[in-house]
Amino acid sequence: MSATAEPLLLIDTRGAVRLLTLNRPDKLNAMSMALTQTLVEALKSADADPAIGAIVIAGAGKSFSAGADIGEFKDLVPEKQHLVESRADLTRSMQLLLPGLAKPAIAATQGHVLGGGCGLALACDMVVAAESSRFGYPEVKRGILGASVMPNLARQIGTKAAFELLATGMSIDARRARELGLVNRVVPDGEQVEAAMALAIELAALPSDALRATKQLFYRALDTDFAGALALAHESHKAMRAFPKHESTKRFQA
Ligand code: COA
Repeated sequence: MSATAEPLLLIDTRGAVRLLTLNRPDKLNAMSMALTQTLVEALKSADADPAIGAIVIAGAGKSFSAGADIGEFKDLVPEKQHLVESRADLTRSMQLLLPGLAKPAIAATQGHVLGGGCGLALACDMVVAAESSRFGYPEVKRGILGASVMPNLARQIGTKAAFELLATGMSIDARRARELGLVNRVVPDGEQVEAAMALAIELAALPSDALRATKQLFYRALDTDFAGALALAHESHKAMRAFPKHESTKRFQA
């Protein structure tokens, strides 16, 4: 809980969609250890809930998230290796968790989307960005590096653009992020959560086995070579014939 006793994360269920809202608006939703841990648990819980088909992650206030909580950096020193390790482990587990969820996750962003906040948004399967969103990795300007968030950025966009973002600490606006393929939709400010929810509702209504297998194959294929990806696809191809028939698809599968 924060000093004001507000929950760090707002958890709302709308139909088959779980909406998770980072709730430290006075700190631009900086990702403290406690907030990150709470989010990890909420994501696992949403994934395990059979009534949930998709997840939206949003940020309260004017920014999605300004990244790792700088206030906690004073304890991240070589003499406190256990804290350094647990911070790094937490970010790594978040980067692994989101693509590993059975259900799709959509980030709804606005304002600052920086460092670990940018890493969180881009670890989601899709991003709906308000026009005010600014994406970037300012870590280098703080004398550190965006380590655990680097591999995912590097595999999502061209290496030149990714390197420039990481090495200069510059931030880019929502339109540039869309040009680079980091963002699916750009919407007017204030509409990002509803737009992400609408997308999530559409996804949640799809045949769940097909959607889950699509996500699973997508990331596995991304992380292997071409022949290996085709071998995984071959297995998925066989598995999908055993999926239960979904009401909406029966006429195509008679
Ligand atoms: N960690 C902890 N607190 C943060 C934070 C972060 N990453 N980013 C912002 N905050 C806090 C500020 O300390 C401030 O708190 P205060 O009012 O108690 O002093 C509050 O959020 C608002 O931030 P502020 O700097 O006043 O807003 P701004 O609009 O002038 O500037 C930023 C916004 C994002 C440019 C600026 O806050 C910033 O550079 N933040 C750090 C971003 C960063 O380096 N992230 C990567 C971390 S490795």
